[in-house]
Amino acid sequence: MTDDASKTTADGQTMWGGRFSAKPAELMQAINVSISFDRRLAPQDLAGSRAHCAMLTKAGVISSADGARILEGLDTIEQEMASGAFPFRDEFEDIHMNVEARLKELIGEPAGRLHTARSRNDQVAVDFRLWVREACERSAAQLQALQRALLAKAEVNADTIMPGFTHLQPAQPVTFGHHLMAYVEMFGRDASRFADARARMNESPLGAAALAGSPFPIDRHMTAKALGFDAPTANSLDSVSARDFALEALAAASICSTHLSRLAEEIVLWVTPQFGFIKLTDAFTTGSSIMPQKRNPDAAELVRAKVGRILGSLVSLMTVMKGLPLAYSKDMQEDKQPVFEAFDSLSLALAAMTGMVLDLEPERERMAAAAGAGFSTATDLADWLVRTLNMPFRQAHHITGAAVKRAEGLGVDLPNLPLAELQALDPGITAEVYKVLTPAASVASRTSYGGAAPAQVRAQIKRWKELLP
Ligand code: ARG
Repeated sequence: MTDDASKTTADGQTMWGGRFSAKPAELMQAINVSISFDRRLAPQDLAGSRAHCAMLTKAGVISSADGARILEGLDTIEQEMASGAFPFRDEFEDIHMNVEARLKELIGEPAGRLHTARSRNDQVAVDFRLWVREACERSAAQLQALQRALLAKAEVNADTIMPGFTHLQPAQPVTFGHHLMAYVEMFGRDASRFADARARMNESPLGAAALAGSPFPIDRHMTAKALGFDAPTANSLDSVSARDFALEALAAASICSTHLSRLAEEIVLWVTPQFGFIKLTDAFTTGSSIMPQKRNPDAAELVRAKVGRILGSLVSLMTVMKGLPLAYSKDMQEDKQPVFEAFDSLSLALAAMTGMVLDLEPERERMAAAAGAGFSTATDLADWLVRTLNMPFRQAHHITGAAVKRAEGLGVDLPNLPLAELQALDPGITAEVYKVLTPAASVASRTSYGGAAPAQVRAQIKRWKELLP
């Protein structure tokens, strides 16, 4: 205990805001206790204990009678947890010891046999893997729901012309469907990252015990199978020390949240009166308490912000794990809160984004008008010169630049630039050129694989519909 810990402030409160007295025992409990957050691992802890108990019984390490009583006791605990009657107690520190202490109260002596050939080190490792595995499955399923929402919007907007941007400057016309399908690709990769992480983490650490394995005739293959793992982990030290499964899941969550933040940012931009590309209903916007005209895209803004927490969680756990010697260290108890926080945030962000995608409606006329602005079909003019007049692209680019400059000077867009003006730049240009200068013609011409042409977009929508479960 430092001097500071025993100092009191002027109003007689301790340095700890009055929450803790400065007694070492209380401070120790305050820093050591994890039940307030690791109680979320209760279902996984019960599943691990059931598998371990069944295996100990089968291996003859504990008697069938004791095994049966333990399983009954675990059932009672599960019911108590479901009804809210389970007494979570700080003095038992964490979820593992809370369950064991309650089991002892319920069934007496056999409770003490459950921990044979097991340690909290492999117990927490298995519980946490099960939790993260489920979080990966849930995230992938939510991503697929979001993809389905995007597909539905893309399908009815495969022909909805909108400007495509680079540097947030109008670049070339695309369609709203094409734009939404870009996110279907991103979220598809996110879902596959969660699937990859799940596949790699799916090995059971149970039976590694404290760090070195067990002298009892345990069957780690049996418990691995019972818990849905592909195999037991192959090194007992690694089994209790590894948290890269959680880091990998957090990395996948972080990347996914950057994709969510990009779409959220576009929604924020698109609903501004300046863009006016989409409308969101009141379901996902809020009014201002002072400015009656306002409709703020709060949900999109919050989705945009969630990456802060989620990436923060990755940095947090990565920093905890860096430099930790093998095997278990108590530092690793700090693994849970960032992971819970990250996946709670991701889950909410995915659900909110799915809701917004279903809710949003494009303002087709505004989008189409914007698609024609900013000389967005200039590339089409250059391509026409290359194709029709067999001009080198660099020369075509130069002539088109001059045409844009002329149009700008006359205050017209390219489709309205008089033919004489174009012919002054190159006498070979004919009225045929106007056919390629509209945004619709520009989009329709982008027929290369993966391009913006509606037929290409529809082909990708069809492919994704077949891929998605
Ligand atoms: N509550 C601990 C954690 O979450 C469980 C493992 C404790 N192991 C130990 N050797 N003290 O990491």
